[in-house]
Amino acid sequence: MNAASRRTSPNDAKHGTAAVLQRAPGRLAIIGIVAGLVATAMPSGAAESGGDAKRGAKVFQACVACHSLQPNRHMTGPSLAQLFGRKAGADKGFLRYSDAMLKAGIVWNEGTLDDWLTNPARLIPGTEMAFAGIPNQGARRDLIAYLRAVSEGSEAPRGPRMPRLKAAQAQDVIKSMRHCGDTYFLTTGDGRNLKIWEFNLRLKIDSSEFGPHPGRPVIVGMGMQGDRAAVVFTQPSEISSFIQQKCE
Ligand code: HEC
Repeated sequence: MNAASRRTSPNDAKHGTAAVLQRAPGRLAIIGIVAGLVATAMPSGAAESGGDAKRGAKVFQACVACHSLQPNRHMTGPSLAQLFGRKAGADKGFLRYSDAMLKAGIVWNEGTLDDWLTNPARLIPGTEMAFAGIPNQGARRDLIAYLRAVSEGSEAPRGPRMPRLKAAQAQDVIKSMRHCGDTYFLTTGDGRNLKIWEFNLRLKIDSSEFGPHPGRPVIVGMGMQGDRAAVVFTQPSEISSFIQQKCE
């Protein structure tokens, strides 16, 4: 066990940091999650007409691996803040829409969202949203009621609150970092020295407003095992200028 494997990050599993830059999780896992959530979100089985935003917040857990409701917080999928009345594929800050989504020509409202969430690939063939859909109509209604309430500001956004890396604590800020042999040697803002096998440390970029200060990369834990971590920089060129290649 190395030093990094013992550290735990308060931001880790809770905030789903690992999901930010990783590819979408497997389709089967998502279907399983949805099935479980739908079962708990529909205690009576009877769908009310308007949809229940509070219950919908639970159904939204099926989306949080890929979507935030914070404005400008784009992950695998675009931020879903202010979704209602917006054209599909029109959030200028999200650069990863598929051509299919960009050309869809639909506007998000109760009806289009219901079609989308029933079967995304049927509404927009060629979409890159790797999500099978929510078969249960009541669960969809609740979820849409929740998305609308968040859009209108009457419900708080739940789901992944991405850590604001500019506010990272000294223990997570990397003061210096060198690479020797197959090992990274890191010194944190509170003076700890970490030794991490090069293959266990990912180098990541968060250039968004949520990312770190330039020159002050931040280490974030990854995964429950804690055997991997990532150091997050503000842009690719910072990686080579910050990490010194030297052995003492
Ligand atoms: C595995 C990751 C993933 C999951 C899970 C996921 N999405 Fe998506 N979502 C995406 C991606 C990627 C896109 C962009 C798709 C494209 O461009 O074809 C997207 C696009 C969307 C859009 C269109 C937004 C826009 O700006 O036009 C909506 C609405 C949406 N998702 C809602 C949801 C909801 C609600 C859930 C949960 C039930 C969900 N998604 C689950 C990845 C995901």
